[in-house]
Amino acid sequence: MRRAVFITGTDTEIGKTVVSAAIIHTLQEKNISCGVMKPIQCGGDDIQILKEVSQINEPPSLINPYSFSKPFSPHLASKLEKRKIDLEKIYRSYLTLKEKYQVLVVEGAGGLLVPISKDLFMVDLIKRLNIGIIIVVGLRVGAINHSLLTIEIAKKYGLEIIGLIFNQNQQEISPISKEDSPLIISKLSQTKILGMIPYLEVLEKKGNQELTKREFFKEITKKINLKYILEDKLPAKRNKILKDRDRSLVWHPFTQMKDYQELEPLIIEEGKGCFLKDIEGNWYLDGISSLWVNLHGHQKREIDEALISQVNKISHSTLLGLGNVPSVELAGKLLEITPQGLSKFFYSDNGSTAVEIALKIAFQYWQHKKEVKKNKFLTFYNAYHGDTIGSVSVGGIDLFYKTFAPLLFSSFRVKAPYCYRCHLNLTYPDCQISCLQELEDLLVKHHQEISALILEPIVQGAAGMIIQPEGFLKRVRELTKKYQVLMIADEVATGFGRTGKMFACQWERVVPDIMCLAKSITAGYLPLAVTITTEEVYHAFLGEYEEKKTFFHGHTYTGNPLACACGLANLEIFEKEKILIKLENKIKFLNQELKYFLNLEHVGEVRQKGFMVGIELVKNKELKIPYHFEEKIGLKVTQAIRKKRVILRPLGETIVLMPPLSISKDELKFLLEVTYDGIKEVE
Ligand SMILES: Cc1ncc(COP(=O)(O)O)c(C=O)c1O
Repeated sequence: MRRAVFITGTDTEIGKTVVSAAIIHTLQEKNISCGVMKPIQCGGDDIQILKEVSQINEPPSLINPYSFSKPFSPHLASKLEKRKIDLEKIYRSYLTLKEKYQVLVVEGAGGLLVPISKDLFMVDLIKRLNIGIIIVVGLRVGAINHSLLTIEIAKKYGLEIIGLIFNQNQQEISPISKEDSPLIISKLSQTKILGMIPYLEVLEKKGNQELTKREFFKEITKKINLKYILEDKLPAKRNKILKDRDRSLVWHPFTQMKDYQELEPLIIEEGKGCFLKDIEGNWYLDGISSLWVNLHGHQKREIDEALISQVNKISHSTLLGLGNVPSVELAGKLLEITPQGLSKFFYSDNGSTAVEIALKIAFQYWQHKKEVKKNKFLTFYNAYHGDTIGSVSVGGIDLFYKTFAPLLFSSFRVKAPYCYRCHLNLTYPDCQISCLQELEDLLVKHHQEISALILEPIVQGAAGMIIQPEGFLKRVRELTKKYQVLMIADEVATGFGRTGKMFACQWERVVPDIMCLAKSITAGYLPLAVTITTEEVYHAFLGEYEEKKTFFHGHTYTGNPLACACGLANLEIFEKEKILIKLENKIKFLNQELKYFLNLEHVGEVRQKGFMVGIELVKNKELKIPYHFEEKIGLKVTQAIRKKRVILRPLGETIVLMPPLSISKDELKFLLEVTYDGIKEVE
């Protein structure tokens, strides 16, 4: 049996209370226990009427968590009474009532886009409660337009529309229109009609108090079809099919499928803010921003709207020889925020392709410059630049690299700084970053063969959030200039505020020759990447058609307009909401709280740069002895954390925290507490 219905309307004063009362009455006639809730009331006496009809005796804090005296929109009524509406409080009351009754009828206030606060609408409350809606349509002039608009909004927000109930709340309406309107609304919107309530003169004359009289409903209740309200949607059956098929059909990346098949799959159905909801309705904090991409939370209204608005124009057209509006506009915006000197934007779809493109551009650049021997790359141990053959060739993580070694092109490699386990046994800053000497030695010897050096600036992400000592990046840049090697900054993970500045290169005022961006460029909405370079590099590719200097590279979905529209909305949010300024306090808070982790017996090092955090677990703290791969320590800890409703994904023995930038302090606290407890539990 369905457990709850939300009664909304195409407008205020449309008959929601009549319909709610009628549903309650009808259910009770069938001996179905029925609770009622009016989460927000602004003026009026709806809640008294519903209480009397249902004859339930629950405290006001449950059935009506927010009652305001003025008959205004909730945002204004609550502002005047200086009481903020908290969706979580409503949600808790809702859960309590839902447990008590077979069916809970929840009556909204006004329609779906009635504002609850400056950034929430009634539709957000419905989403939080996760209930199907019945739309009450006032059968009067304008009904078609009002109901189709309401239905469109409901669909846009992904609400389940159980059906429509038409309420003739005006006596004067032409018989043809009375018959035609419901049919055309239902047909155009593909929505079921659940009932028709005729004009009730007595309400007009005596008011809503009549609703509390039982005999009043005799006529109405026959006109409401309860079948769909009581319909059992069998979620358990659907969920079982989804889980079985996930195990049997979907091959998950970076996942040992033998283990996966033995676990209960966690399948995500929805996200809101920093939380993800699984198909069973459980909410989890998204502690890794859905693999380091989400910035402003899931279902961020401005990005949702930008995406939908772009869908209504065009979803894709090629960039091969054509332009499209969002890709041009996004390039313009990126030009304003990326390090000065980077001014040519080559789009693709993901971090690996952004890197492939950077490598090919660097290689071809030197070919055009007639320096044909400069055909190799210089990279760092522990580097990660993606999973395609080219990007793995410049990667430095053995686990991902070794198997494919015969397929890869050879690159020069030098040790990257890893101060916790310094290979020179030195300590920063006394070391004066001596590890750079190895890099310089190699450049002295081989710079004539090297087209470009590639690195993850400031933080080597996939290696375990290993942070470079201050000054390292700047000196690398000086060396690349000195030895005429292009520098590729792979900001796929570090870009878009992750380190506390828009781009990690900005910490040391470094302008690379080529920069790769992906992941958070769309704030976690759609795949998009861009490889950015300088006028100097770009100009080497210009020539007569027959010279064949063209950059022969391009992906089908390059510069996809939907993704670029999300990218633009993302950057607008950065500006409008002053994201980087707001982040500063959260970074400080994170920094303070992370210190406690060092009290744990197996936490070797806690590394943090902005919102990129790595907690390295060690078997023996004194001796810095690592855990064995087979011990699966990272996986065990994150599984324990998952049970506490936080999603994390480790990098080997390092527990990674990388929440959306929009996370609140309370949510951050929860993330830290759960992580701490999870590590302690497994230790
Ligand atoms: C620094 C860096 N470069 C490249 C990539 C590859 O990006 P994608 O997974 O989008 O191909 C990643 C992914 O984590 C990364 O961290």
